[in-house]
This record gives sequence, structure tokens and C-alpha cells, in this order.
Amino acid sequence: VRAQKITTRLSGMVLGGRELARVGAVFENELQRGLSEQPSSLQMENTYVPELPDGTEEGLFLALDLGGTNFRVLLLELRAGQLVREDVKQYHISDALRLGSGEDLFNFLADCVLDFVRSEGMEKESLSLGFTFSFPMRQHSIHSGELITWTKSFKCGGMGGVDVAALLQRCLHARDLDVTVRVLLNDTTGTLVAGAHIDPAVGIAAILGTGSNGCYMERAERVQHWEAAHARVHDVCVDVEWGAFGDNGCLDFIRTDVDRDVDAHSLLATSFTFEKYIGGKYLGEVLRAALAGLARARLFPAAPAPASLHTADISAIEEESSRGECADTLRILEAALGGNVRLSTEDARVAQHVAAIISNRAAQLVSVCIATLLRRMSRPYVVVAVDGSVYKRHPRIQALMRRYIALLAPQHRFSLLAAEDGSGKGSALTAAIAARIAARAD
Ligand code: BG6
Ligand code: GLC
Repeated sequence: VRAQKITTRLSGMVLGGRELARVGAVFENELQRGLSEQPSSLQMENTYVPELPDGTEEGLFLALDLGGTNFRVLLLELRAGQLVREDVKQYHISDALRLGSGEDLFNFLADCVLDFVRSEGMEKESLSLGFTFSFPMRQHSIHSGELITWTKSFKCGGMGGVDVAALLQRCLHARDLDVTVRVLLNDTTGTLVAGAHIDPAVGIAAILGTGSNGCYMERAERVQHWEAAHARVHDVCVDVEWGAFGDNGCLDFIRTDVDRDVDAHSLLATSFTFEKYIGGKYLGEVLRAALAGLARARLFPAAPAPASLHTADISAIEEESSRGECADTLRILEAALGGNVRLSTEDARVAQHVAAIISNRAAQLVSVCIATLLRRMSRPYVVVAVDGSVYKRHPRIQALMRRYIALLAPQHRFSLLAAEDGSGKGSALTAAIAARIAARAD
């Protein structure tokens, strides 16, 4: 009886073929609207990256990678398209900086660059920098753009209408650094470029990390929100910003009470609702909210507190479930409940079942997006470059995605390519591509 009741309560989170087809049709429609400047929950941003690596990329580049799990400064050297040097230093961004003023955050970023070039003994050198800023932007060129809205765990004030590349540039100059911000890019773009460097058949990139998003090469003639300088290119990389898919209500038919609970407890409520079904920042919360819902219906012993479960817990629970065991699951749940509730093996199995539903739904939804892009591109074969902590660490997500994409785009040949550290390498490669394009224009 308990199992039956649990199944009924969670049924809204279990998506069948018909619902997935509907999500795909809505996504396609929103894509089309976004590209043609009609109201849409998809930004479909122009990244100003009109071509991918061709193996001739050269140079020494600094890179800043902000917005994922780790903030990093990198020094990368390319010779004939090959990465021959990669020095990396990671810096911690405090909550106060993530939630304070934009000016303070960017001054901190510039301090980190200063610290990094000093440790490399390069503070007097003239260097080009690629800035991977993993947030939605309205770009005006390959090296300029404004933040549209913060996502994930950042919420800094005073950023309205501010060009983030220009702000970083100003903070770097204030430190007497001869560093020029040459490219501004999203992590999906970095992953696409880095992926294409490994395999030229890459045409789509997806991030399944703290957040989730994708970009792809679109035919220029289909994009109506151009700014003049781009009119002659054949293809362009479009940043979909699918994390915001459905923020206009078009996806409410899959939204459950659990999702409303997660959204209400998030830093940026009512925005990026699709990302909250998929991103690593949220999957633990989805489990927490689902178990809380079961607890309210007296189908689970108690409700875990907000933020007491994490995506790494889902991965651990799923991994243990595949071995048919439950000791770790019990330990994780008991900790989330504050250590004073005793759980049974059956409770652990319930949580394993819920975790499987959550992982499955995340894989289905991200696969719908990728399958829709594959259909839209209609190339004979497309490699999808993927990066992000969920993709790398969740024990089942890769296999689930392969299965669902194949089911949803049966006519299209594809493969998934793990493009580790896509954004770091991608920003150096993109800076080199930008230099190549600029040299051609002279
Ligand atoms: C990596 C990047 O490519 O993937 C990160 O270098 C990026 O900066 C990330 O944002 C996404 O993964 P996560 O899990 O770190 O958010
Ligand atoms: C969020 C950001 C997006 C980024 C994604 C993955 O959705 O808005 O720009 O690509 O996270 O990091």
C-alpha cells in the first residue's frame, strides 16, 4: 500500500513518451521564436563565434573561468593548435563576494589575475585574456556583453547594463596590468570550441554542471537578431540558455509541487526553472523536497531540512542502489535528518527509488534539448561535447542520455564527447580564433 501511494504521489515527476514529445515541440517552438526576436523563454544569444578551431591556433593566453564549481585563472599556450602549456590556479570566492556588489566581485577577479601573473613571474608582460563568464549575456561583439541575469549561486548588485568585459578590463588596468580582455564567452561556447578541437564533427555543446545549458552552430541566415558586422558569416554559435526554458509558463505542464518547493527555497526564485530540474546546484534539493512531500503524506519518517542533501548524495545513493545495498543511503539520510531519526531499510529503498526518478527526469529533459538541436541541425553525424560535474560524476547520467537522445532523435547519428575543462581550453582557443579573424579583416 505504501509503495502504491508513493508511486501515485511521485507520478508527476515521471515523464512518459507523450510528455517528452510535447516538451520537445515546445522547445522547438521557443527556439524558433527566440531566433526571430519574438517573446520566448530562450535567449538564443549570439556568441559572435563564427568558426571553430582549424588547427592553426597559436599564442599565449590568460583565461578566467567564473561561474562553475571552481573559479580559476589559467595560462595556456597553443602551438599549431596544440595545447603545450596549462598552468592553473584555483581561488575561493566567498559568499560575501558572490552576494555583494558587482564592483567588489570584479575587483577580486582582477586581484586574482594579479596574484596569478606574479606567481608566473609575468606581471610586466603584455597578455591577452579570454574571460569565460558562465552566465546569460547579451553580447555585442566577441569581446563585449552585458549580464542578463545572475544564475546559480551568484547575485551581485549594480550590474544592470554593465559590460562585464569592460568592467574586468578597468579593474585590470587599475592594477597596472598590461592584460587585454580579447574574448568574452559562456562555458558552453568554450566547451563547443574545445570539443571541436578534439573532433571537428562537434556541433553542439551541453553543460550538466552546477547549472545546465547548451549551444550549437546555427545557420546565420536563420538568426534574425543580428548586429551588422556579422552579416557575412555562414554559421554562428548560438547560446540557447536553456536553463530559463519555461520561465514564461510554457512548461508548466511538467511542474510539480516538488519543483515549486525547490524554486521557493532557491537564491533566485522564479527564474531558471528548467535548470532546477537538471543542475547540480539543485538535484539534491529536488530529493529533499520530494522526501519532504512524502513525509507530509506520512509516507516517509521525517522531512530533511532545506539544503541538507546535495547532488553528490544522489550520485552516492544511485551508485549504492545499483549494488543492491543501502548502508550509505541510510547514513546520508540520517545525517540529512539531523541524526536523531532512525530509518529502516525500506525507507532507504524509498529514497533510492526517488533518486532514480529525479536522475531519470534530469537525463530525459536535457536529452530532449539535445535531440531537438540534432533534428534542427540535420547533419549526417554530430558529436555533442559535454562537460560539468553532474555529467562527470553521476553514475548513470551518461548512459541515460545516450538512451534518451537515441529514442528522441532516432534518425540522427550522434555521439557524446566528454570535453573536460572545456571552458579553460575553449577560451584560449577562442581568443586565438578571434585573433585569426581580426588578422583576416586587416
Ligand atoms: C567546465 C568549466 O568546463 O565546466 C567550468 O571549466 C564550467 O567553469 C563547468 O562552468 C560546468 O561545470 P560545473 O560542474 O563546474 O558547474
Ligand atoms: C547557467 C548559466 C549559463 C551557463 C550554465 C552552465 O545556466 O546561465 O550561462 O552556461 O549555467 O554553467
